[in-house]
Amino acid sequence: MSGHSTYEPKTGIERWLDTRLPIIRFGVDLGDFPTPKNLNYWWTFGAILGVCLVTQIVTGIILAMHYVPNATLAFDSVEHIMRDVNYGWLIRYIHANGAAMMFLAVYIHMFRGLYYGSYKAPREVLWLLGMVIYLLMVITAFMGYVLPWGQMSFWAATVITNILGSLPVVGPPITTWLWGGFAVDDPTLNRFFSLHYLLPFVIAGVVVLHIWALHVPGNNNPTGVNVKSEADTVPFHPYYTIKDAFGAGVFLILFAAFVFYNPDGMGHADNYVPANPLVTPAHIVPEWYLLPYYAMLRAVPNKLLGVLTMFGAIGVLFVLPWLDRSKVRSMRYRPTARIFLALFLLTCLVLGWCGAHEPDAAVIPGVGPGFVLVDYGINTDVWLSRLGTLLYFAYLIPVQLFLPLFETPLPVPESISTPVLSHPASVPAGATSAPEKKG
Ligand code: HEM
Repeated sequence: MSGHSTYEPKTGIERWLDTRLPIIRFGVDLGDFPTPKNLNYWWTFGAILGVCLVTQIVTGIILAMHYVPNATLAFDSVEHIMRDVNYGWLIRYIHANGAAMMFLAVYIHMFRGLYYGSYKAPREVLWLLGMVIYLLMVITAFMGYVLPWGQMSFWAATVITNILGSLPVVGPPITTWLWGGFAVDDPTLNRFFSLHYLLPFVIAGVVVLHIWALHVPGNNNPTGVNVKSEADTVPFHPYYTIKDAFGAGVFLILFAAFVFYNPDGMGHADNYVPANPLVTPAHIVPEWYLLPYYAMLRAVPNKLLGVLTMFGAIGVLFVLPWLDRSKVRSMRYRPTARIFLALFLLTCLVLGWCGAHEPDAAVIPGVGPGFVLVDYGINTDVWLSRLGTLLYFAYLIPVQLFLPLFETPLPVPESISTPVLSHPASVPAGATSAPEKKG
């Protein structure tokens, strides 16, 4: 895609290295990579995710120097990190909030892909690798949440490993194998720690493949129109290095606001109570970023079907590139599809809301002090979860398959440059036409 390399080694050492390991050439070529000139700030989330991943790995390695993966010592070792280790509180809060921030970024990154059709041909493999990353992120975050060995850690591990046990034939042996015994206990904590340490490096490896798969077809862009000529692109550096750095800077301000002003805001008070297998918490909930799946699991009355629905919710995203039949890539030119996507986002939020509530009570927020329980005779929370689950799958299967048959897209521009150059901001005051691109 990037064509010939512009790198010319200047010194003897550079020439020597270039014929043995052309790593400088590789870096320069990445910087020169022709990138569509109209990428907006939604395209900075890939870089933001890279920053998040590195932050998680660095803080995680430091935490692992002080954490003890033993069922009787784990909880206290986390308190030791918080109280005695120099800046241990900071490292831990960055790591715990960093996981949530990374999910925030990944959901924005994925919805950006949905809106601009970045998963469509020829970027299917890029999307598939993204989904592998997402799945690994879910597993890693789940195992990480178990490590402090608080009440919520223990019971979340118990609930999730137990639901795997409902799979026919393979379920029970898988659960025993995961537990390393006959209940969630010390061996479970040990293997979760081991895997929680390993998986981020696997994620990093898949990210390398993800970026490789991005560099073959090149970036999509807000118009969804393919790059037609060199005039449609700019070199990645310095244009997008600066834009990504600015985006990451703004994101880090939000991140810091959580770490310094509300570090436990996204956590659960029960996780400051040591794990106790004899006392079940009143209300077992996962972290916010997994709540929609939890709502789906509980929406289905049959346990096995609930598990399959939950896995199906992630599974269907893997095949999205083959479900979407639209010829137009970007939703900028698909007003009807845009409405459906907005409804899909709303569905995910409602499912998240349902996942956070007790299934046996209908809850109406904002009435009276805090929450008011209303007895409708039917369970609104569960029925809302069922409707949400139905709408979730409806958007990803029939809407993708059939909406393109009925919708009338807006005219799509000839090239990326057409809408860029016709934008009033691209024409300097007094000029009659847009400036020519230099170089
Ligand atoms: C650790 C997690 C991830 C990292 C570090 C990462 C990194 C990146 C980077 C650097 C880019 C190029 C810049 C950009 O378009 O924002 C990119 C593009 C892309 N990513 Fe990811 N990504 C991650 C997760 C995901 C996930 C979970 C998905 C979806 C399932 C995904 C789908 C895509 C797609 C479709 C593109 C192409 C965007 C375009 O050109 O329009 N990524 N990713």
